[in-house]
Amino acid sequence: MGRDDSAEIARQHVIDPEICIRCNTCEETCPIKAVTHDSRNYVVDFNICRGCGDCIAPCPTGAIDNWRQVVKAKAYTLEEQFSWDSLPPQEELAGAADAALPDDVERLTQEARAGQGGTAPAPWSAETPRVNLYSLQKPAIATVTANFKLTDEGSSSDIRHIILDFGNTAFPVLEGQSIGVIPPGTDANGKPHHIRLYSVASPRDGEKPNHNNLSLTVKRVTENHNGQSIKGPASNYLCDLKKGDQVKIVGPYGSSFLMPNHPGSSLLMICTGTGSAPMRAMTEYRRRHMAQKEGGALMLFFGARRPGELPYFGPLTKLPKDFIDVNFAFSREPGKPKTYVQDMIRARAADVARFLKDDNCYIYICGLKGMEDGVKVAFREVCDGHGMNWDALQPELLAKGRFHVETY
Ligand code: A2P
Repeated sequence: MGRDDSAEIARQHVIDPEICIRCNTCEETCPIKAVTHDSRNYVVDFNICRGCGDCIAPCPTGAIDNWRQVVKAKAYTLEEQFSWDSLPPQEELAGAADAALPDDVERLTQEARAGQGGTAPAPWSAETPRVNLYSLQKPAIATVTANFKLTDEGSSSDIRHIILDFGNTAFPVLEGQSIGVIPPGTDANGKPHHIRLYSVASPRDGEKPNHNNLSLTVKRVTENHNGQSIKGPASNYLCDLKKGDQVKIVGPYGSSFLMPNHPGSSLLMICTGTGSAPMRAMTEYRRRHMAQKEGGALMLFFGARRPGELPYFGPLTKLPKDFIDVNFAFSREPGKPKTYVQDMIRARAADVARFLKDDNCYIYICGLKGMEDGVKVAFREVCDGHGMNWDALQPELLAKGRFHVETY
C-alpha cells in the first residue's frame, strides 16, 4: 500500500508575534530568504525554510525559537501567520512524535533557549548580561523622571534624553543592551502596537550612580526611509511623555554588543545620531571608573548634520582629551564640506590602524544602516595603507568578539 502524503507530519518553524521585537535580524540572517514581514509580523515561509537554524542564535528575544508540528499539506500559510496576535496552540496530531528535528537545529535551538543570542560573541571579559526578564505578558513598569530635548530649538530633528526609574523592580542592564517599549493603544487596524527596541544610554549603575534608573536617546520619527511623512507610534509616545508618566518595558535584550571589562581594553566607537546611546553608556561607565586607571584608550567617531543636532554635543566636548579622542563629522554645516564618519576615519588612519591591530581594542558601530558599509570601506583602506588585510582581519575581529554592529 502506498504512503499517504496528505497526512505526512512536518515540523514548521514559526515566530512568536508576542515576543518578537521586529528587529529584522532573522530576515537579514536567513541565507535563503525564508523569513519575511508585513507591517505587523515577521513570519517564516514553510515552503522555503529548510530548518538550517542560522536565524536562531542571532535573535535577541528567542521569538524565532518556535516550532509547530503540522500536517504538511496544512502548514500555516504566510497570510495566516501575518494575522496572528499570538502563536496558535500545538494541535494533537497522530504520529507527531516521528517528526524529529535534525540534531544541529536542536542544538541551535537549545543555545537560543539559553539566551545566548547574538551574531558575534561578546568580548571575553564582558559581564554576563541578563536577558528576557520582562515580557509582553509581564512587563516592568517604569516611571518617567525626566524628558529633555538634546537637539537645538529650530533644528530639523527632535532627539530626547528620557530617564526611566524602575522603583523597586529589578531591571539590570549592561552598556550596549536594549530594552523594548510597549506603546499604548492600537494601530489603524485596531491591533496593539508592537514593541519597539531602544539602546540604553546609561551605564550599568544607573543614569544617576547607584539609582535604579536608566536613560534612552530617542529621536521623534516624523518620516519613513523614503522621506514620506509618518508618525512613529513609539518614538512620538516616548518623546511626549511627561515626568511621572508610567511606561511598560520589556527585556532587557542583547548579549553580544557588550563592553570589555579587562584592564587595558580599548574602545573604538563609531556612530551617527541616536546610535550614540550605547557609546554614551560605555563612555560614561569608563568615566565613572576612571580613577581606577584600568581603562585603555577610547576613540569616538560621531556623525550628525550639525553640532546642534548631535546628541550630547556639549558634554562630549568637555571630556578630558587624554580620556577620549573625540572626532565629529558634520554633514550639513553651512560653508563646510559634507563630512561623514568614514571621512574622519580616513583622516585618522594611522591611529585607527593602531586600534585595529591591538587585540585589546573592541570596535562598536551603531546608527544609520548606510554608514555600515561606508565604515567598512574606510577600514579596508586603513588596512591597505598599514600592512593589514581587511578580508582576513574582519572575520578574526568577529570571532574574537572585537567587532559589533547595530545599524537600522
Ligand atoms: P546627511 O546630511 O547626508 O543626512 P540623521 O540626522 O539623518 O540621523 O543622520 C546622522 C548623520 O549621518 C548625518 O550627518 C547624515 O548625513 C549622516 N549619514 C547619512 N548617510 C550616511 C552614510 N551612508 N554614511 C555615513 N553617514 C551618513
